[in-house]
Amino acid sequence: MKPWIELGTARIPNDGGILTLRQRDQEFSISLSGPRGELMNSRRFHSEQQLSVLGCAHLKDAQNARVVVGGMGMGYTLAAALEALPPSAEVIVADLIPEVVAWNRGPLGACAGRPLDDKRVTVHIGDVGELLVNGDGYYDAVLLDVDNGPEGLTHSDNNWLYSVEGTSAIYRSLAPSGTLAVWSASPDTMYTSRLKKAGFQVDVKTVRERPGKGARHAIFLAKKTTGR
Ligand SMILES: C[S@@+](CC[C@H](N)C(=O)[O-])C[C@H]1O[C@@H](n2cnc3c(N)ncnc32)[C@H](O)[C@@H]1O
Repeated sequence: MKPWIELGTARIPNDGGILTLRQRDQEFSISLSGPRGELMNSRRFHSEQQLSVLGCAHLKDAQNARVVVGGMGMGYTLAAALEALPPSAEVIVADLIPEVVAWNRGPLGACAGRPLDDKRVTVHIGDVGELLVNGDGYYDAVLLDVDNGPEGLTHSDNNWLYSVEGTSAIYRSLAPSGTLAVWSASPDTMYTSRLKKAGFQVDVKTVRERPGKGARHAIFLAKKTTGR
């Protein structure tokens, strides 16, 4: 088997460690320094796609839908959102790490079919929370895959996104009938409770890392139930 070739590294803010992008033949891997190891692999992306399939299902025929994708990773969630959305949609993809976006404009882009080239996409380099805190009813869907799940792991600053305050801010950022979809390595009953307290109607779906096989992950599908 061919050896892995290192294509780039990036520092996660606030001492969050180093991300490394590697390639072996057509396979790509992004790993985090320390015990966490591999975060993403281009052979396993079904659950990342399902995040968009489930989170954008209500927008198939919507005019001018506005969708936030956080974060970019290998682009599978973004590409699946674009596939699910009509031509009039606007999709903002946020990623904390500029190098991740640069990798997707470069060698990594082919994995998910170069979704950053789609004219419906704009990029926000920074915390996805910055968009959501000022959302004020603007978004029809928010698709979050920024960490291992509500308990965090790779970036402790992300805890706010899953907190009571963050969950309520996301609720306010959504338009009436908007949907928040959150990827998680596993279910989390405390997070389900927080979502319900914020006003969401919640359904937790089990998704596989490959179609019909591999590890089971959870997607929290949270629908806004009131106008504000
Ligand atoms: C697991 S990956 C996302 C994988 C992606 N769903 C895909 O389809 O490949 C997590 C991404 O979120 C980014 N990230 C982490 N915390 C973030 C935050 N608070 N705001 C924006 N991006 C963030 C990371 O840099 C990383 O690119």
